[in-house]
Amino acid sequence: MHIGVPRESRPGESRVAATPETVKKYVAQGHQVIVQAGAGVRASQPDAAYEAAGARIASAVEALGAQLVLKVRAPEAAELAQMKPGAVLVGMLNPFDAENNARMAASGITAFALEAAPRTTRAQSMDVLSSQANIAGYKAVLVAAHHYQRFMPMLMTAAGTVKAARVLILGAGVAGLQAIATAKRLGAVIEASDVRPAVKEQIESLGARFLDVPLLTDEEREIAQGVGGYARPMPPDWIKRQAELVHQRAIQADIVITTALIPGRKAPTLLQEATVQQMKPGSVVVDLAAAQGGNCPLTVADEVVERHGVTLVGHTNLASMVAADASALYARNVLDFLKLIVGKDGKVAIDLQDDIVAACRITGRREGALAS
Ligand code: NAI
Repeated sequence: MHIGVPRESRPGESRVAATPETVKKYVAQGHQVIVQAGAGVRASQPDAAYEAAGARIASAVEALGAQLVLKVRAPEAAELAQMKPGAVLVGMLNPFDAENNARMAASGITAFALEAAPRTTRAQSMDVLSSQANIAGYKAVLVAAHHYQRFMPMLMTAAGTVKAARVLILGAGVAGLQAIATAKRLGAVIEASDVRPAVKEQIESLGARFLDVPLLTDEEREIAQGVGGYARPMPPDWIKRQAELVHQRAIQADIVITTALIPGRKAPTLLQEATVQQMKPGSVVVDLAAAQGGNCPLTVADEVVERHGVTLVGHTNLASMVAADASALYARNVLDFLKLIVGKDGKVAIDLQDDIVAACRITGRREGALAS
């Protein structure tokens, strides 16, 4: 089968959906891999490395015209127009974007959004949310350290003692936990909070203090369990108590990293303007939920702004800022997913009895439209 790897066209997207490592494996399986010229350059993978792995370097038209197209982000309309009806597309296609889903369906392709995979043990090796959120959590701390005008660790020098930075992390999923681990390595003092009480132990095992917003009613306890590992919107009373605790802790903090997301919904507001107003001058907020409306109303997506003496970082694609490793991990996720939809004969075979395949498929397939 022909596998196409186009260069990502969205501004700020430096990742690539296949690396020479995974290309080599596709070639060994008997596929022909067509990589658009320059597809991996921003992820430190030159065309020559793909050629050495057995790929053919070609134009965008050829890469997008393949039977199986591997992308990082959903194709723009112009890219979609170059895909062939009946082709299969695999990527992080943003399954909650109904307009985009309709556009892909109308073009007659079969699209698989890897973000929709269930968070199960079997799906772990193809879990793109985890592989990329892990990187985003790491980079969030480095970006915060970059904007923060003081040291992260406590230092005793001949010129005096420097206090350790106090870091507050809101939302302790994959990104939040990696942010805790990274801030810890830099020597910060860390507090973290999450709506799901199950993460208390994980937070503490990484050396941070868990900020507990008590669950007072059966309704609160039930909702806080989340669904499928994901958070659900909490009742107003709990949100009020959480806001009070976050306010108290944030005004003591030097750096706040927010990562709270609820799939398919606007991100919950956790850091109010009144809190930012009272934060210490020179504090830094990195809002990982910026693409979903932000956990702080002052965050501006894709910008770094200063409000009330606080720097607010709204980068929406932190994983892309670590493009080489982000691509390496993403490409392996894709390689593992393809094992579920490409048979031993090298042809696409979609088994909708497979829960991962069924969950990821966001547009239909024209039977028989695919050649081998
Ligand atoms: P996410 O990116 O959807 O959300 C980030 C964090 O924000 C979550 O921990 C969530 O509980 C928290 N949050 C949401 N609303 C909040 C609020 N109002 N206040 C405070 N915190 C709030 O989550 P992520 O990182 O994608 O993880 C989702 C789940 O999937 C977790 O339970 C994780 O343990 C699980 N998981 C399971 C895997 C597996 O078994 N294969 C692999 C990776 C993750």
